[in-house]
Amino acid sequence: MLQILKETAAWLRPQIPADTKIGVILGTGLGDLADAITDKKEISYEKIPHFPVSTVEGHSGKLIVGKLGGKPILAMQGRFHYYEGYDMKQVTFPVRVMQLLGFEYLFVSNAAGGMNGSFEVGDIMLIEDHINLFPEHPLRGKNYEELGVRFLDMSETYSKELRKLAVAVAEKNRIKLQKGVYVGLQGPTFETPAEYYYFRIIGGDAVGMSTVPEVIVAHHGGLKVLAFSIITDLGVIGKVMEVSHEEVQAAAKIAQPKMAFIMEEIIKQLKL
Ligand code: HPA
Repeated sequence: MLQILKETAAWLRPQIPADTKIGVILGTGLGDLADAITDKKEISYEKIPHFPVSTVEGHSGKLIVGKLGGKPILAMQGRFHYYEGYDMKQVTFPVRVMQLLGFEYLFVSNAAGGMNGSFEVGDIMLIEDHINLFPEHPLRGKNYEELGVRFLDMSETYSKELRKLAVAVAEKNRIKLQKGVYVGLQGPTFETPAEYYYFRIIGGDAVGMSTVPEVIVAHHGGLKVLAFSIITDLGVIGKVMEVSHEEVQAAAKIAQPKMAFIMEEIIKQLKL
């Protein structure tokens, strides 16, 4: 595993500016954020040795090398979802590669269902913490000390410092920013009303089918993580709505310029 990761990192090394420290994962319907990236070069996943290839509609599957907020970044347009059949090592493979490339920050976005009664479709939620309900753990199996510790502390998985910056940027620019706990599960079904209710009771504000595996691995690898959910539908008791992938994509598209703006402003402020 380690050898394969090193081969991929070595292949990518010459294609990415040496001072790139920021990785970005763009979620469902959030690929347009790529428009804000300048000096772009694209590398499709098929070309990258050992990289899994993404299949789901709305995910085009490429790395974007470029600049955001004046700093070099590497963005993933299209991620690997567990429900597609990938195992956790594949889902988190790109994050490990970022780690081996010396990245220090990971910004993550996703589309999610809102369970908090004060949320509305189109809101952005800053993820403060998560509840991992995936059936397989990304750190299960042999632990490579070179990559991180066996038993990982999770008391501050989402960087406090970056969250503070996000809140400040949102306040200054009068962007409504919700905060909450993301419940991550495998999908591919959306939730039943009883399930939304259950996830609310256990402490969730939003629910989705991604992010948690990548975030755990990034944290394990020592990257500082910041993550946002776009609320694309509501699983609020009494207000549970019918939901389709198309609606999720459409709602995400509307909210994404605001999220892109917040990310860009934060990146501008990072001292790198
Ligand atoms: N549930 C799970 N995943 C999602 C949802 C949802 O309601 N909306 C967007 N992704």
